[in-house]
Amino acid sequence: MIRGVGPLQGRLIESLSLTPRPAPVPLCDPPDISAALRLHYGRDPIFTASGRAGLALILQYLKLRYQDEVWITTTLGWRDRRITPCVTATLAHYCRFASHPGPRTAAALVIHDYGVVHPDLEIIRDVCQRHGWPLIEDAAHALASSDRNGRALGSTGDFAFASLLKFFPVTKGGFVLGLSSNTEQDQEAKRYAACWWSQLTEITQVRLHNWHRLDAMAHRAGGAAALPLAGGSCPSLYLLRTVRQSATMQALHRRGIESGPPFYAGLVFLPCHQQVSEQWLERIEEALEEAHPLSSTPEETRCKACRYTAPRSG
Ligand SMILES: Cc1ncc(COP(=O)(O)O)c(C=O)c1O
Repeated sequence: MIRGVGPLQGRLIESLSLTPRPAPVPLCDPPDISAALRLHYGRDPIFTASGRAGLALILQYLKLRYQDEVWITTTLGWRDRRITPCVTATLAHYCRFASHPGPRTAAALVIHDYGVVHPDLEIIRDVCQRHGWPLIEDAAHALASSDRNGRALGSTGDFAFASLLKFFPVTKGGFVLGLSSNTEQDQEAKRYAACWWSQLTEITQVRLHNWHRLDAMAHRAGGAAALPLAGGSCPSLYLLRTVRQSATMQALHRRGIESGPPFYAGLVFLPCHQQVSEQWLERIEEALEEAHPLSSTPEETRCKACRYTAPRSG
């Protein structure tokens, strides 16, 4: 059994999930979290049960009609249609969506994939301003990330939403920026944010450290990061690009480590959050070594799905 670090210090955990495992809310004298977020983002938050609930609130506010389209653009550039179904399913309740702007575009949604700032955020903001399209930032994975000018992700769009679940060991929670503060708040989410917010800097440091450790392991195993970290970004996950996707996921699973998802060819998501202790990193390395034997031939290093050729290791 492995001892967790940070918020789970001293507790025994037998498996490792992609997001932090829920832990007791720390005893705190809750700061004025609305004021703290106003300072961070330059506007007031509305607390919601989840990131999805935040997106739904924004879409309701915009009164989009069914024939309207939301133009979705992501850090990874829609490569292989990698858009999380929880976003598209939420959008589908209200309107259509597309990977390009067009005559039906009524709003734009920028997704900062896995905490990494969208490279064209400012250009998209200008395009939206020219067309009068409201810009929504999906900062679900970007609670601790900023752009190259040091602005918190979520401060640029007309609206933004964030998820607490990817960063804090909580069972629910998110917030929206850009809506009127008269909107009803989720009090439990507000309490979670208040009690964990002060630990965000420490959580960010551990995540960055873990990301770099995983990156070194990935290279040793002949893989690579599918999503490099831009300056100011704090990762929600490590995205391993490997030609041995299925073998890697199985080796991780045997060691009690959650990975995923199977439907993105050539990719394996690895946890890098604050509960990934040194011992878990060692287990992950063991799994990567097992799944990527040095005896692999050049034939085996070529991925038929994405045509990526991994560098030979050793
Ligand atoms: C890019 C993205 N946006 C939004 C969400 C929704 O966040 P939540 O799980 O808090 O509803 C997710 C969930 O995984 C996500 O990956």
